[in-house]
Amino acid sequence: MNNVVREEHVVLPDELATQALASRLAAELRAPATVYLMGDLGVGKTTFTRYFLRARGITGPVKSPTYTLLEPYELDDGMVYHFDLYRINDPWELELAGFAELFDEVSLRLVEWPERGADWLPPADLELRFSGAESAREVALRWFERVAP
Ligand SMILES: Nc1ncnc2c1ncn2[C@@H]1O[C@H](COP(=O)(O)OP(=O)(O)OP(=O)(O)O)[C@@H](O)[C@H]1O
Ligand SMILES: [Mg+2]
Repeated sequence: MNNVVREEHVVLPDELATQALASRLAAELRAPATVYLMGDLGVGKTTFTRYFLRARGITGPVKSPTYTLLEPYELDDGMVYHFDLYRINDPWELELAGFAELFDEVSLRLVEWPERGADWLPPADLELRFSGAESAREVALRWFERVAP
């Protein structure tokens, strides 16, 4: 794993706090970047992504890619790919789906359940590890040193 260059911990008492964090990161992150969204079912990974995309100017629906594995979004400054790998059994399925070439692009990738993609995924530039339930959500952020491809 690459070196951690910065760590942060944010308490998310309500969805407004999640929206504020998502908006901040949407302004901060520049492509190419890969963001790992980690944490249990229902912890807020898709909710975070929805606010992130809203902040980037997406006005249409933001569906969870639970069944499609991937939802692409076209923005003026490039593509954003939202993955949810929960349902894959083997990272090889991602290769078969032709997703590998997406990682050669200068794009932003937000990946729920990155553990399921194992070595197939590019390393994270930022990892968000969500935890908690009901009104006590929180998230640990870690930024990683970017290593030249
Ligand atoms: N502080 C909070 N931040 C984000 N979501 C919250 C918060 N408090 C409550 N919620 C609710 O928690 C739920 C989070 O669901 P979401 O689909 O985002 O989870 P997920 O992590 O993507 O789950 P999955 O692993 O199944 O894809 C939503 O119903 C949301 O309204
Ligand atoms: Mg989700």
